[in-house]
Amino acid sequence: MGLLSRSVLALLGSSLLVTASPTAIIEHTKRGTLIARQDGNYECKCYAGDDCWPAEAEWNALNSTVDGQLFNVIPDPAVCYQEYEGIPTYDAVKCAEVTQKWGEQQWQTDQQVSNLWVLWTNMTCLPPSAGGGDTCTQGHIPDYVIMATTHDHIKAGIDFVRENNLRLIIRNTGHDFLGRSTGYGALAINTHSFKDVEFIEQYTSSDGEYNGRAVKVGAGIQGRELYTLANQQNPPQTIVAGECPTVGFAGGYIQGGGHGPMSTHYGMAADQVLEFEVITADGEFVTANAAENADLFWAVAGGGPSTFAAVLTVTIKTFDDAEASGFNFDLTTTDPEEFWKGVEIFHSYSNHWIENGMFVYFELGHMLFRVHPAVAPKLNEAQLENITQPLLDELTAANIPHTFSTKTFQSFYDLYIDMFEDEGTGSAAHVGGRIFTKKDIAEHNKEIVEAYRLSAEGAGMFFIGHIVGPGEGLPTVNNAIHPTWRQASTFTISSLAVPFDASKALKDELQDYLTNVGDAALRDASPNGAAYVNEGNLEEPNWQEAYWGSNYPRLLELKEKWDSGRIFYARTTPGTEDWAVIDDLGRLCKKV
Ligand SMILES: Cc1cc2nc3c(=O)[nH]c(=O)nc-3n(C[C@H](O)[C@H](O)[C@H](O)COP(=O)(O)OP(=O)(O)OC[C@H]3O[C@@H](n4cnc5c(N)ncnc54)[C@H](O)[C@@H]3O)c2cc1C
Ligand SMILES: *[C@@H]1O[C@H](CO)[C@@H](O)[C@H](O)[C@H]1NC(C)=O
Ligand SMILES: *[C@@H]1O[C@H](CO)[C@@H](O)[C@H](O)[C@H]1NC(C)=O
Ligand SMILES: *[C@@H]1O[C@H](CO)[C@@H](O)[C@H](O)[C@H]1NC(C)=O
Repeated sequence: MGLLSRSVLALLGSSLLVTASPTAIIEHTKRGTLIARQDGNYECKCYAGDDCWPAEAEWNALNSTVDGQLFNVIPDPAVCYQEYEGIPTYDAVKCAEVTQKWGEQQWQTDQQVSNLWVLWTNMTCLPPSAGGGDTCTQGHIPDYVIMATTHDHIKAGIDFVRENNLRLIIRNTGHDFLGRSTGYGALAINTHSFKDVEFIEQYTSSDGEYNGRAVKVGAGIQGRELYTLANQQNPPQTIVAGECPTVGFAGGYIQGGGHGPMSTHYGMAADQVLEFEVITADGEFVTANAAENADLFWAVAGGGPSTFAAVLTVTIKTFDDAEASGFNFDLTTTDPEEFWKGVEIFHSYSNHWIENGMFVYFELGHMLFRVHPAVAPKLNEAQLENITQPLLDELTAANIPHTFSTKTFQSFYDLYIDMFEDEGTGSAAHVGGRIFTKKDIAEHNKEIVEAYRLSAEGAGMFFIGHIVGPGEGLPTVNNAIHPTWRQASTFTISSLAVPFDASKALKDELQDYLTNVGDAALRDASPNGAAYVNEGNLEEPNWQEAYWGSNYPRLLELKEKWDSGRIFYARTTPGTEDWAVIDDLGRLCKKV
């Protein structure tokens, strides 16, 4: 692949011209060894080896407060290595098990701190058969984890972090595409055990605006669990949740906005929220709804994961489920020109799909275009075939080989279980993406598809598309999500694979390509578009504007109000401008 184009190298060159500052150098040692240096322009969170790090007795006291649920983190694949940080770890039987389960999403999400996208752990302790090297070292993972089983455990963790200036990681499923549920040397709080779900037949919202069915969901519930429980109600209910079975619901997903197969009908997941119960940075239990702490309610609904509070429960609307149809579609041509013409034709129907209430999931790489599936809630097969006829006619007229098949189900739930494919885990990639509006599709579809082609052909970039219209024909809900979502027609994730043994320099080059070539082309082709914080680029230029638009100034104010001490942190979320991971070790520091 022609990855290292001249322009990328030129960009890399210019970023090296940082002038050295004359400030004092601060050294950071662990077990007597110098492991990092920083210039005095930064103040870091407290890490093991620093004088401020809590003494053994304090950790033991925390452990009693959390009923023995505090653990030293040892990465799961350590059992395949002789030792981890001086502790002997090898166990052949357990290594075989970890190796076998490594690619399973549910197993990964069930672990203490494991991250599904291994780039973010720095790939320093992988199973030998899945990219591992000769050693198992810490990389960018926490030191301690609280396996919380009560809300008081979460509070105890937040209080301990605040009192000791530690880095906090809230870890729900470890699904975050941008690595925001892992971090070097942190105290992690694992929320996976909170699986309580309570369906309410007659829920009246705090402001009296909503009167209907609802469900109160615990912090640890995952997508498919919630769809399944909703389906067991009488009459069967459905919800706006993600397309992936194992992504969490109340964690990063809804706090970043949350799109899904029912979004074209009902809006974003954040639009469904009636109430949050949270713990604030000060350790207070707080209810946030339209009447009480309304500003926090507004911010948590889409203002960013792990930014304003730790979410304990979220109450959302549910809807009667109904029949649904879907189709699968593949381009089968082996001719590149025909292939990209086919993509252009399919993609030009984005507005058509959402105008018919649909959600279309697609995967796109050079010579690979598959739609598995497209979802048409509330439509029967005849209606769906009628809606797809113009597309099929156009492809036939252009002589573009493809396959197409439809299916109808009694409920969206049956479709969801039947037509969505299982997903794997364990790969490493830089991620970015772009929201395309209806206007962009209407006016710039050709340029958008040319932009996909540029980096798919040029560097093997891969895209995951979601044709979704969470504002199509719906009243606007007042919350923190980017207002551009209301005009959206497609949201596409972009990704660029990173080899497991990539050097720091190669990782940086690939990130640069993604940002300044791949995503830059998508941005240029969509003047009305925006970006999505849950599936976005960590180096997104002007991320404040790109992720939140005109909502950003208020979010910044509310971050100051609810978390002035910066207990919560996730990269590219409101109020993190002065914060950065400043060294390879992965320490989080504030510019002073
Ligand atoms: C395979 C796959 C499919 C996806 N599909 C969709 C999709 O269909 N629609 C969509 O919108 N997004 C989708 N996403 C993106 C997803 O929304 C984000 O990755 C999201 O951050 C996952 O949240 P989580 O809580 O499950 O993960 P985690 O990685 O555990 O957490 C993500 C972030 O949320 C924070 N967080 C977690 N729990 C809490 C809590 N209780 N309180 C405060 N902060 C918390 C974490 O600290 C972290 O910053 C998908 C991601 C993947 C990997
Ligand atoms: C916390 O206590 C439990 C139960 O006594 C123990 O198993 C665990 O190892 C302790 N954690 C730490 C970090 O010492
Ligand atoms: C992270 O990985 C890079 C190689 O990509 C390496 O240079 C760096 O030392 C690693 N840092 C840690 C803390 O593992
Ligand atoms: C078929 O689609 C056309 C628009 O393409 C629409 O006008 C017509 O009502 C549809 N018929 C049925 C039966 O859905």
